[in-house]
Amino acid sequence: MAKDIYMGEVSRNEEIRKDFFLMKVTLPSGFVEPMPGQFVMIRIAGLNDPFLSRPISIYSFSRGRSNCSMELLFRVVGKGTRILAGLIKGSLVEISGPLGEGHFAIPKAGNIVFIAGGIGIAPLSLFAENLCRKVCRSSDAMTFYLGAQSADGLIGLNRVHKYCGNIIVCTDDGSAGMKALVTKAFQKDLKKYDPMDTAIYACGPRPMIRALSGMLDAEYFCQVSLEERMACGVGACVGCAVAMKDDLGQKTYKRVCSDGPVFELKDIVWE
Ligand SMILES: Cc1cc2nc3c(=O)[nH]c(=O)nc-3n(C[C@H](O)[C@H](O)[C@H](O)COP(=O)(O)OP(=O)(O)OC[C@H]3O[C@@H](n4cnc5c(N)ncnc54)[C@H](O)[C@@H]3O)c2cc1C
Ligand code: FES
Repeated sequence: MAKDIYMGEVSRNEEIRKDFFLMKVTLPSGFVEPMPGQFVMIRIAGLNDPFLSRPISIYSFSRGRSNCSMELLFRVVGKGTRILAGLIKGSLVEISGPLGEGHFAIPKAGNIVFIAGGIGIAPLSLFAENLCRKVCRSSDAMTFYLGAQSADGLIGLNRVHKYCGNIIVCTDDGSAGMKALVTKAFQKDLKKYDPMDTAIYACGPRPMIRALSGMLDAEYFCQVSLEERMACGVGACVGCAVAMKDDLGQKTYKRVCSDGPVFELKDIVWE
């Protein structure tokens, strides 16, 4: 269960929008190429408070001759992320990863739909980039629905514009794009998407994922990345367990960190 821990060096940590940071970390060349949807556990080297690492999705990854470079896009919500936000160039971080057995699956369908709430854009935009650059999917096939509470929370759009031909932006307060919840905007278009020829990928807060589950029948292929609080990140503490259906439709529990964080929407049991 244990994963290698790598020492990374922060090469950039910029507040790109109030409380949203883009951190670039240089890692040793042994770091394995991540699959979109996988994440890392990160903590500051030598710091014991907070002791636990924090899970953050991999936003971008590239490999150089002698090292690797990874970007993390994060929002300051509490103690751990506030400390990460304060790191300067040259700071050392302990990173374990890439973590998670469940990652986004390459679609066979003609239509590819992404639905992101806020910081949920991070793993989905890496996936959109990989589909364009590595499996040559056309940007015209990809539609990205991005929602946030207000215009301030819409981050990462430039990158999505590079890879997705259709982008629908929504805010709860109407300060940018449609004044609607992102799930409502998607629901309005749902009839356009043939379940036999559409693959849907979503990441965002639990209520957003739950709303999607209420509007998509099981015919649709839909994978979602779940954000649970995590302690160990490697399947040892069971602190991140969520209720799921097994292959026989019986209720079971799966660990978001090791079995996920990406699951099929139809398998989630809403308690
Ligand atoms: C697989 C995975 C990938 C993630 N990727 C990203 C990412 O790319 N960028 C990013 O900004 N955040 C991401 N998160 C969420 C991030 O891990 C939490 O925001 C972070 O751990 C909070 O730590 P903290 O010490 O700052 O906050 P805390 O002081 O621990 O908590 C502050 C508040 O945030 C809530 N919170 C804490 N952890 C989570 C969580 N895991 N999910 C939802 N709410 C939480 C708490 O309930 C509390 O209200 C991801 C989480 C998971 C599980
Ligand atoms: S965080 Fe420990 S099992 Fe998932």
